[in-house]
Amino acid sequence: MKYTGVIERYREYMPLSRDVMPITLLEGNTPLLEADNLKKELKAPCKVFLKFEGTNPTGSFKDRGMTVAITKSVEDGAEAVICASTGNTSASAAAYAAKAGLKAFVILPKGKIAIGKLAQALIYGAKVIEIDGNFDDALRIVREIGEKTRVVIVNSINPYRIEGQKTASFEIVETLGKAPTHHSLPVGNAGNITAYWKGYKEWSTKHGSSLPKMLGFQAEGAAPIVLGRVVDHPETVATAIRIGNPASWKQAVNALDESTGQINIVQDSEILSAQKLIAGAEGIFCEPASASSVAGLRKLISHDYFSAKDVVVCTLTGNGLKDPDTASRDIAPPLTSKPELSEVLKLIQD
Ligand code: F0G
Repeated sequence: MKYTGVIERYREYMPLSRDVMPITLLEGNTPLLEADNLKKELKAPCKVFLKFEGTNPTGSFKDRGMTVAITKSVEDGAEAVICASTGNTSASAAAYAAKAGLKAFVILPKGKIAIGKLAQALIYGAKVIEIDGNFDDALRIVREIGEKTRVVIVNSINPYRIEGQKTASFEIVETLGKAPTHHSLPVGNAGNITAYWKGYKEWSTKHGSSLPKMLGFQAEGAAPIVLGRVVDHPETVATAIRIGNPASWKQAVNALDESTGQINIVQDSEILSAQKLIAGAEGIFCEPASASSVAGLRKLISHDYFSAKDVVVCTLTGNGLKDPDTASRDIAPPLTSKPELSEVLKLIQD
């Protein structure tokens, strides 16, 4: 069957009029891989699956929500959209706005956006404004612009973003034939954990499937929900989740409470080590923030949290190619050789 993107695929779950033409880049339908090598490495008693969202058209899960937010904006007659971003939302907004023929404005924390994400926003044709401030400052400005002008905000405070992002849960339950027992994911602005939980609940209501426990992970220097207070100067190597005052804080806490899950801290060193492990063991290159879900899994395994009957899905939210700088920072550089067979063989046999 021809794949037509998440709106067509899950039309009955979308709050859009029946005849609306989706603005789509054929997002969604991402791989759910059973991670047996990782399971061995981590000595996990449970089954481990990775939902790799890096295969979406702009390389992150944001595309699932952006197709819905941009489709709705076009239906409502918008001319321009705006977002604050740590990089991925801006890349996705810029791409879908380009496809729809809308103007896109993006406000970014200067110097804290992975190089690939910035290049994406620029080449898709967005007007990119960097501020001397963090994501939380950028979102405050965007909210004010949204109140004062007709420009549509496409951050996850736009409910249509959540409606699109919930489709990842649908795909998981359909592929596994049931819901996992646990779902692990990184938490930044907290829209995604909100969306996954909404998706699992809607599927459960319609099809009678069970519900997973939601497991969220924040980086040590940017863990407002874990600490229970706003972090004024968030810092982490995982720039995508460098957020001190998440917009969907309450909804995330609700998802954690309702699912009897939990939210924990992972350190930057644990995030980078998990990123390498996922690449080396499973052949998947995800970005640092994404690896928090596996760093968190590893932590909970060490606390004997899981049992043999558990099935855990970790979402890998974005593609590692977006941030090659961080990935190459502490791995050994390539070997070099004279252009001669004997020299190359020496290195191979070494
Ligand atoms: N992983 C990646 C790769 C992200 O880009 C983000 C958020 C998250 C995880 C966290 O998701 O915010 O829904 O809790 N990135 C946003 C952005 C903030 O602007 O691209 P969340």
